[in-house]
Amino acid sequence: MPVQFKPSDIVRQLSEHVIGQDEAKRTLAVAIYAHFRRMANTAADSVELTKSNILLIGPTGSGKTLLCETLARILDVPFVTADATSLAQTQFVGDEIEAILHRLLDRAEGDLARAQRGIVFVDEVDKLKAVSGESRASSGESVQHALLKIMEGAPVRLKDGRHIDTTHILFICGGAFVGLDRILTKTHTFGFIATSGGDDQKILERLNARVKPTDLLEFGLIPEFAGRLPIVTRLHDLTLDMLIRIMTEPKNAIAKQFAAMLQAEGVELRIDAAVYRQIAELAIEYKAGARSLRGIFEEMMTDVLYTVPDHPEIRRVVIRSLFEAPQLLAVRPTPGS
Ligand SMILES: Nc1ncnc2c1ncn2[C@@H]1O[C@H](COP(=O)(O)OP(=O)(O)O)[C@@H](O)[C@H]1O
Ligand SMILES: [Mg+2]
Repeated sequence: MPVQFKPSDIVRQLSEHVIGQDEAKRTLAVAIYAHFRRMANTAADSVELTKSNILLIGPTGSGKTLLCETLARILDVPFVTADATSLAQTQFVGDEIEAILHRLLDRAEGDLARAQRGIVFVDEVDKLKAVSGESRASSGESVQHALLKIMEGAPVRLKDGRHIDTTHILFICGGAFVGLDRILTKTHTFGFIATSGGDDQKILERLNARVKPTDLLEFGLIPEFAGRLPIVTRLHDLTLDMLIRIMTEPKNAIAKQFAAMLQAEGVELRIDAAVYRQIAELAIEYKAGARSLRGIFEEMMTDVLYTVPDHPEIRRVVIRSLFEAPQLLAVRPTPGS
């Protein structure tokens, strides 16, 4: 197993796909490193190292799912995502959880041993917060209890009669936790630090951004569930600059994808820097993080992709502004040809 991955290797590889979010990358990388060490050690060591599942807190579209997906690919372990909200809507939580583990087994192509070292990402766990007065059966709280069992490492019986051991399955939970910041500022005692200078302000922000288990309880997670998520890290709102980089830098960045598509038609795509900025500004207005970039980008490209295949003489597409029609440039026919 990939104990050979040092945390710095993991961060470097994550950075090929995920822009920014350095704090989350480092925390994840260290947690993963420890997780694989733990698995390698269990047989030999007398010290029982318990599993540390991870909680990723961050706004929508900031890269939580992307981080987990990329991580699973780097580690070459099976990976599935589950949505806590839909777990809370079902009558049969146990069946749903079994189905999640079954999907993990499918991803491992039926290899049980491989599935038992996979990663499960449970998104939107913040929607499971306990609400007083809600009936236990359908409440988020009961889903927390159900998830707790597999996060603790209980074996689960699958429909085909096999048992899947969840001891080494790593659970990463995610959520936006809207309102958590209010709890943090209320419960932290760092507020009195002088905040005159910019550096002080930064330190203060960092201290105040630390999430304590008690903050999660106040938010509405049950103590046992919060206790099973000892590693908490945060993703931050993406800045304009990061949004621009997301469109152009990652290995499968959207600009590279469209450039490759046009290149297949023998057409060169040139997009001015100003255009990326306009798209990023619009995405910030939409408040869905990097999620709206693709939609805006595709809209901009629709006419181009419609027109180009009909006009083999087009050799270059130049886009100078999001709000101006792209220029489709043909090569001048050489006389006599
Ligand atoms: N930090 C990031 N770096 C690169 N791409 C990102 C980043 N954050 C979001 N994206 C892009 O936005 C889309 C939505 O991100 P996702 O990871 O699903 O967000 P969420 O935090 O809501 O899980 C992804 O498909 C990805 O292309
Ligand atoms: Mg997500």
